[in-house]
Amino acid sequence: MLIPELIRKKREGFTLSESELKSFVTGAAKGTWPEYQLSAMLMAIFFEGMTTRETSNLTQLMASSGKILSWPDLPGPVIDKHSTGGVGDKTSIILGPLAAACGVYVPMISGRGLGHTGGTLDKLESIPGFNVRLDLNSFDKILRTLGIAMIGQTSEIAPADRILYSLRDVTATVESIPLITASILSKKIAEGIQGLIMDVKTGMGAFMPELDKARKLAKAIVNTARKSGIQCQAIITNMDSPLGYKIGNALEIQECIEILKGSGPADTTELAVNLAARMVQMGGIRPDIDQATELVRNKLESGEGLAKFEALIEAQGGDPRVINNPNLLDISAGVHEIKACESGWLNAIDACKLGWAACHLGAGRDKAEASVDAGVGIILHRKPSCKVHKGDIIMEIRHRNGKGLEKASELCLHALVIDEQPQKENGLILEEIL
Ligand code: URA
Repeated sequence: MLIPELIRKKREGFTLSESELKSFVTGAAKGTWPEYQLSAMLMAIFFEGMTTRETSNLTQLMASSGKILSWPDLPGPVIDKHSTGGVGDKTSIILGPLAAACGVYVPMISGRGLGHTGGTLDKLESIPGFNVRLDLNSFDKILRTLGIAMIGQTSEIAPADRILYSLRDVTATVESIPLITASILSKKIAEGIQGLIMDVKTGMGAFMPELDKARKLAKAIVNTARKSGIQCQAIITNMDSPLGYKIGNALEIQECIEILKGSGPADTTELAVNLAARMVQMGGIRPDIDQATELVRNKLESGEGLAKFEALIEAQGGDPRVINNPNLLDISAGVHEIKACESGWLNAIDACKLGWAACHLGAGRDKAEASVDAGVGIILHRKPSCKVHKGDIIMEIRHRNGKGLEKASELCLHALVIDEQPQKENGLILEEIL
């Protein structure tokens, strides 16, 4: 079939066969489909969805578009974690070193910013010199030595996702259960892991704001992973408000370091510890979840998690002095304060609006080839749920020479949900799929 016929077939709601999907995936990985046709197919999938079999075929084909790694001789379990994307969600950068300090091997392949959400790779690259494009030999060597290495999709590993991910980011085709499932699991299958802990976000700042859709996504990921021979469990977590106090690439690295030093915000610390403990339990290092949690907490409190992160930065070419000298992170000096325009209970801060505000400042991309500004973002001074008075500073915007500031300020102001009465808070972890 000609490419336009394949796109039309999906656009009309028909099912694509494995060989038709192969044409699309190979077209992405090898560049034989131009970006406008890849994007049109993504939009057709976005609107028409996919059957379970199509999703599973797409996942396998995207994983096999590059090398599939395997680690038969590593002396410990090979387990990873991935999130469906959130605002201020920096947990991978905290829990990876913590899990590695507990004896888990973590060959993490992550993505860049996607839509209004931040990406692990953009955050890591805000550390001067940090290289997320390691060749496979260096990836292997660092993983064996430290128990963790963190890279992005390359032309060798998950190349189809590398292209499709960057197109989805700028073509408004992110919020799709089959596309998210295939994107995440193609990377995870290529990593050669035994087990995966998924953090599926729901709420205002998630790609699946409604709980029933998040549940569907979680089940699609867990079932597709298990079909591919990967142990998988998922937790569904609340992303109504941002995680932690800092949003933006370098700001989030700063907060990761604070957390690994034991002085960071409770919500992010607790979630990172919870997810790391699940990795430790799944890997059989501590079969009981309470003991696994205790081990992870020990690694946090003893500073071994921080030391692991410092070693990782050095091994991947970054400047490890950022650990004790956060001024080495290029955080923009431009400050604009957002104040409460009424008194009452700050019941929520809409994470989606803050995510887009950060993108307007330059923390995300509007074109596939655009670069990000690592130093811009938002620092919350207050978090839900608390009482505020008119004029209180709720957050500060860190901007670069006013770029995007007007739109970002408008979004940040509209993100504040201030009511007369306090609202009952939902917990952070809403459900689990074990
Ligand atoms: N993370 C990914 O790797 N892909 C998605 O589509 C969403 C989150």
